[in-house]
Amino acid sequence: MLSKYSLRLPKVVFGGENPTEEMAAALKKEGAKKVVVFTDKSLRKLGLVEPTLEAVKAAGAEAAIIDDIPAEPTYSEVQNVVDQVKGLGADAIIAVGGGSVMDSAKLAGVCATDEYTVHDLLADPTQASKKIKMIAVPTTAGTGAEATPNAIVAVPEEELKVGIVNDGLIADYVVLDANMIKNLPRSIAAATGVDALCHAIECYTCNKANPFSDIFALEAFDLIMNNIEAACDDPEAMGAKRAMQIASFYAGIAITASGTTAVHALSYPLGGKYHIAHGVSNAILLCPVMHFNEPAIRERLAAAYDRAIHAGATTVEEKSAAVIERMDQIVDHLNIPKKLDELGVTDASVDELAGAGMKVQRLLTNNMREVTLEDARALYAQIL
Ligand SMILES: NC(=O)c1ccc[n+]([C@@H]2O[C@H](COP(=O)([O-])OP(=O)(O)OC[C@H]3O[C@@H](n4cnc5c(N)ncnc54)[C@H](O)[C@@H]3O)[C@@H](O)[C@H]2O)c1
Ligand SMILES: [Zn+2]
Repeated sequence: MLSKYSLRLPKVVFGGENPTEEMAAALKKEGAKKVVVFTDKSLRKLGLVEPTLEAVKAAGAEAAIIDDIPAEPTYSEVQNVVDQVKGLGADAIIAVGGGSVMDSAKLAGVCATDEYTVHDLLADPTQASKKIKMIAVPTTAGTGAEATPNAIVAVPEEELKVGIVNDGLIADYVVLDANMIKNLPRSIAAATGVDALCHAIECYTCNKANPFSDIFALEAFDLIMNNIEAACDDPEAMGAKRAMQIASFYAGIAITASGTTAVHALSYPLGGKYHIAHGVSNAILLCPVMHFNEPAIRERLAAAYDRAIHAGATTVEEKSAAVIERMDQIVDHLNIPKKLDELGVTDASVDELAGAGMKVQRLLTNNMREVTLEDARALYAQIL
């Protein structure tokens, strides 16, 4: 537990459905005349960008659309997008998409200047400062990127994903419109939902956990554990989908106040080298890392059980075991791969993965149980 802690949040968060008027009012308030909308082609085809374009029109502003944001972009792919934005004279950026689109937009909001590049921020994120106001409209539930001061980019030369962290990367406005996630395909809802689950339980069992982060992490954990299956299985379960959307936002706030731990740290090389989707690599690592951490986080796991699961366990040991077992059942139920060999990773990669994972000290130092190189090797070997 930290003895000093802080909470940083987006300025305004809209919840509910069809917030066109509210978005238009926000754009007007910011005096936005030229708005750049970040998205990807498949989201555009699904019609998910239309409500945002309506809001821009209603605000009397002009929209330019950048719809070629790749999934899980490298820093140079993000730089290409930033360079496109520089020439547009934009005074607001709206991201309509998942973490990939939101992170690209967040970086564009601080990099649309000639002072520094995205690559420069990898070495020194402290030099970033916000240049353009940013509105996040998440279409997955999710990364929580709409709440966090983080933007994650792939760094191919290091075969890693790296988080750039700076308060300038916090969205100014967040729009949690339930319509955005209504038709999320099951496999994407499952992987992104388990990512949010990891955020919640990692932040709750982190060295940096504190009263601010605990409120958001525990509420997110409860909402996710009790809604993720229905939200993924039943296209009509709007109540469960809404709960997931709010929970992933809360879990993002928990990241801001606390931090993720060894699940995310060891997941980064799987994304960086094997391009395994962020939610999938986290889902594979979640229960093995929780078992590894269990002796150090038992009381906290038991408290998470008390909050979210009501299945008759009585002792701390029983509760802590039951909470990990329930998370494992959820990953099984959602048909997310549980082993790396299904994803083309072989035994020969264990040393390389462990070496790369150990570089993610920013998150490993958050882990309540120390992770040595030997431990990292054993954890990767376990999921092969
Ligand atoms: N900034 C942060 O705090 C933070 C936290 C966690 C993860 N991340 C990063 O976010 C990225 C992953 O984001 P993600 O998991 O949201 O996935 P994503 O943004 O990469 O999207 C995955 C796929 O889902 C599709 N998709 C998104 N919304 C959809 C919808 N409503 N309907 C149909 N298809 C839809 C996209 O078109 C894309 O093909 C990774 O780069 C990860 O490292 C960032
Ligand atoms: Zn994540």
